[in-house]
Amino acid sequence: MKTLKQIIEDEKLSIVHQSIDNYGTDKDVHPYVDDYYDENFLIFQEKNIILVEIGVRGGASLALWKNYFQNAKRIYGMDNLETNNSHSIPVNQDWVSGENVEYIIGDAYQKEVADKLPNNIDIFIDDGPHNIDSHIKAVELYIPKMSKNGIFVIEDIMYDAQNILYDKFPEKYRDHVVLYDYGNIKLLTLDLSKCGEI
Ligand SMILES: C[S@@+](CC[C@H](N)C(=O)[O-])C[C@H]1O[C@@H](n2cnc3c(N)ncnc32)[C@H](O)[C@@H]1O
Repeated sequence: MKTLKQIIEDEKLSIVHQSIDNYGTDKDVHPYVDDYYDENFLIFQEKNIILVEIGVRGGASLALWKNYFQNAKRIYGMDNLETNNSHSIPVNQDWVSGENVEYIIGDAYQKEVADKLPNNIDIFIDDGPHNIDSHIKAVELYIPKMSKNGIFVIEDIMYDAQNILYDKFPEKYRDHVVLYDYGNIKLLTLDLSKCGEI
């Protein structure tokens, strides 16, 4: 079983290996893979999980998840192609396709789009536009869709999340929200298995 870090390296998925057609992920450039994902996603690696990521850009992160979670029931990548359109980033069709992969084009923060997803998400990652409004919407729309032992993650928080975002979570979860603080950016995580009966 490979780690996420090994897959990024072996499959040349990192933004540091990017070429014109293959725009890589920055998940290994940020400390998230080292500090959180490799450790906390391990128990799900062989399971029949449902994973959702908002914001997949050229598709490299979707390729990462499908390589790592080979027994996943379904891996959803959502993107409104905003970055791709404004920066001419091509979507690598190999990366965003696969038997258990679903690539959804649309605004992930609209209820009609969120409603396309099932109600038992095991891993949710918001790597979308990284603003307060999108983060609030992510909590409102996707927390109710999490499975009871799931992990909910928001990447690249650049504001005072404790004062602005924490109270958007249902009260019973607030004490279990953990922020990894890297100074200029923060990773917000909520491991629902730690919240007891919900
Ligand atoms: C930081 S990039 C994602 C990087 C990717 N996860 C990776 O690791 O390579 C952010 C992405 O969010 C997408 N995005 C922005 N607003 C969005 C929205 N409202 N709904 C869905 N995707 C959105 C952009 O098009 C862009 O591709």
